[in-house]
Amino acid sequence: MTVDIVIGAQWGDEGKGRITDLLASQVDVVARFSGGDNAGHTVSVGEETFKLHLIPSGIIHDGVMCVIGNGVVLNPAVFLRELAGLEEKGVDTSPERLKISANTHLITPSHIAMDKAKEAQRGAGAIGTTQRGIGPAYLDKVGRIGLRAHLLTTPEELADEVQAHVQRHNQILTEIYGAEPLNADEIAAQFADYAQKIAPYVVDGVEFIDAALQEDKVVLAEGAQGTMLDVDHGTYPFVTSSSPTAGGVLTGLGIGPKVVDRVIGVAKAFSSRVGAGPFVTELDGDQALRLRGTGANPWDEYGTTTGRPRRVGWLDLMILRHTHRLNSLTHICVTKLDILSGIKELPVCVAYELDGKRIESIPYSLDELGRCQPIYELLPGWEEDVTGARTLTDLPANAQAYVAFISDYLGVPLSHVSVGPERDQVVHM
Ligand code: GDP
Ligand code: IMO
Ligand code: MG
Repeated sequence: MTVDIVIGAQWGDEGKGRITDLLASQVDVVARFSGGDNAGHTVSVGEETFKLHLIPSGIIHDGVMCVIGNGVVLNPAVFLRELAGLEEKGVDTSPERLKISANTHLITPSHIAMDKAKEAQRGAGAIGTTQRGIGPAYLDKVGRIGLRAHLLTTPEELADEVQAHVQRHNQILTEIYGAEPLNADEIAAQFADYAQKIAPYVVDGVEFIDAALQEDKVVLAEGAQGTMLDVDHGTYPFVTSSSPTAGGVLTGLGIGPKVVDRVIGVAKAFSSRVGAGPFVTELDGDQALRLRGTGANPWDEYGTTTGRPRRVGWLDLMILRHTHRLNSLTHICVTKLDILSGIKELPVCVAYELDGKRIESIPYSLDELGRCQPIYELLPGWEEDVTGARTLTDLPANAQAYVAFISDYLGVPLSHVSVGPERDQVVHM
């Protein structure tokens, strides 16, 4: 009876999908617990590259069951598109192995229209959302007016609810944002079609996971987004609208804390962020280009979901310590170590300076955080290509020292070091 958790330790895109894929061969169930199709998880398996937004990365492994938990917000159109893409690649996506929790909230076209209208209104202060309707869907959820997946199993009720939902949003869209209203009849008809296709996937998610745990199966909770995008603990308001942290796993799947075993924080060997918000170790110019890449490689730092160039910077251990506090990490997994090969000296941020004082905790005031300067410790780099390393001692001494520095700073053991996007490009500890 075990739940293991994979958590994004920074601002997302740490390689959670890739690590979930790695661990999936040892588990029975992989479950998503938060976020929606704002997530983009890339998994490379030989010639194939899978870009998953909603469906857990475990789907690629035959025999692994997958669950979309109640904490997720699900766009049915995206779900069906993703199913079709996986089926084309020969992946079994039948309702026998893929489940949607009945109390998962649905994203509709009017949520997306609201997301876009709100962002446009924010102007220069825009959050830089993925414009997938995530914020408005969670807003309806906590406002107790959301549409839940169980409605897909009762078509008549669904039609009425969707109509009323779109009309409510139309009022806001036209009166507050001066945007065009959407066609409620058309959207209700679309949802009737989605319902026919998706209803077989809808189950009692809590009961399903509980039954798996009672049978002594191992469940892996696949994080989406990153801890610094958490609505409570991230750089608010430049965050997403959910809880991508370990706490979010409990509510987002409907489990208690006693069943949790490992909490693996996935951290990139440097930092990246898409969208607006404070980023103390951010780089620009040639140094940024060196970490981001030009886009020529599939793993270069361009968003999986939106294609936007990611902002990049040196590794920030203040962020990772915050993540450790919030998630009680049992392990840390470092990804993209290969990208640092060839950089002579690697600055690692160990504290911030705020108005001339050294601080060791991240200020919650955006204004203060904006004034923070990184205090770096300079670690020696390495020249060697590390993509072929499979054991710790295969890594050059300075690369070993780099990952050991992270682990020592946090007081958390390493679980893996990823040295390339491919399944086997990993150092197991
Ligand atoms: P996620 O959202 O956390 O699942 O991460 P993304 O998939 O959005 O972004 C991570 C990117 O880095 C993907 O393109 C992965 O294939 C790639 N990647 C993961 N681990 C490594 C690694 O160790 N080295 C390199 N070069 N690429 C990696
Ligand atoms: P994965 O799972 C990186 C960011 C957006 C924006 C903010 C709010 O691939 O790590 P939203 O659309 O959620 O309202 O946008 O959050 N964001 C992500 N950044 N990776 C993600 O997911 C993200 N999901 C949301 O860029 O800054
Ligand atoms: Mg991603």
